[in-house]
Amino acid sequence: MTARIIDGRAVAAELRSRLVEDIEILRERGITCGIATVQVGDDFGASMYRDAVARMCSGLNLAFRDESLAATSTTSEVLDVVMSLNEDPAVSGILVLRPLAPGVDEAQIVDRIAPLKDIDCLSPGNLGRLMLGRRAWPPATPAACLELLERQLQIEDRDPARGFAGDQVVVVGRSPSVGKPLAAMLLNRHATVTICHSYTDRAGTLAEITRRAKFLVAAVGVPGFIGREHVAPGAVVVDVGINQLFVCGACGAHNHEATGACMACGGRLEDPQTVTVGDVRFDEVAEMAGAVTPVPGGVGAVTNMMLARNAVRAAEAAAEGEA
Ligand SMILES: NC(=O)c1ccc[n+]([C@@H]2O[C@H](COP(=O)([O-])OP(=O)(O)OC[C@H]3O[C@@H](n4cnc5c(N)ncnc54)[C@H](OP(=O)(O)O)[C@@H]3O)[C@@H](O)[C@H]2O)c1
Repeated sequence: MTARIIDGRAVAAELRSRLVEDIEILRERGITCGIATVQVGDDFGASMYRDAVARMCSGLNLAFRDESLAATSTTSEVLDVVMSLNEDPAVSGILVLRPLAPGVDEAQIVDRIAPLKDIDCLSPGNLGRLMLGRRAWPPATPAACLELLERQLQIEDRDPARGFAGDQVVVVGRSPSVGKPLAAMLLNRHATVTICHSYTDRAGTLAEITRRAKFLVAAVGVPGFIGREHVAPGAVVVDVGINQLFVCGACGAHNHEATGACMACGGRLEDPQTVTVGDVRFDEVAEMAGAVTPVPGGVGAVTNMMLARNAVRAAEAAAEGEA
């Protein structure tokens, strides 16, 4: 079998054009949508994410505000920024970029984001609402996974009201930002969900469990972790992983470290090029699966559109008087 490639970029483009229209309609009604990022310190990943959100906002004609604070900022200084964004009508969504600098209490910060502006579902209150199936803006990455998975149901011409009824879905990874909320969202759509994590792997039962999945999601953060042995023939595989590897200039092998000796040829790594790979060994899984997302160009491409969608919905809800 050769899997269908799930094209996240095409899905993102479709969502994007709908969002551009929605934003324009809101503007005509005098409603402003805008995203503010809050960053404390200069973590590389957080800065990359901030820049990607800024580019996306500019492409969508959505207001963007960058609140970057020094790594030496206190929790109380960061809280002041969050509180002022909560009050600002030009900001419909707030995204706190993690990790925050070590001296700042993340829990206190995310707890204070106004629930309506919490567009990545970071606060415990909103996560609780999500678990209960009540209204909350879904966290962007799990929402992107769900968007891609639900499109597979459409391809199978299934009744949308029944969601994933009767389907075994396995999520590998139980982080608060990806695995856990995704499992809850799938459960709320009638899937039979199993969550696996490092202790499942240690128990030696991981592949046996993942092979039961009709839908398999990998959110592990280990390059190439999921291989042919984990996948049932015809399964739909969604790869959340974004991992950076370093290419040996001499032999082309991928290395986990940027410096030292190449793992394959032993040559010295000199200023190596980087490559982004997922948690799934794409080529071998594509021979087993029915459909698979690539990295890059899969989940990551859709994630920011989910964030923007939440910001747009938050602006609409605020205009309708929700708090
Ligand atoms: N596409 C996107 O938009 C997007 C967004 C966010 C993150 N990501 C990427 O998604 C990946 C996961 O992110 P995350 O934030 O969820 O990571 P995380 O917080 O590090 O969580 C990783 C999860 O994987 C589990 N795990 C680790 N080793 C395992 C093993 N050998 N067997 C089974 N499970 C194992 C961990 O289990 P334990 O809980 O037992 O430790 C943990 O639950 C990363 O590559 C990240 O860069 C992508």
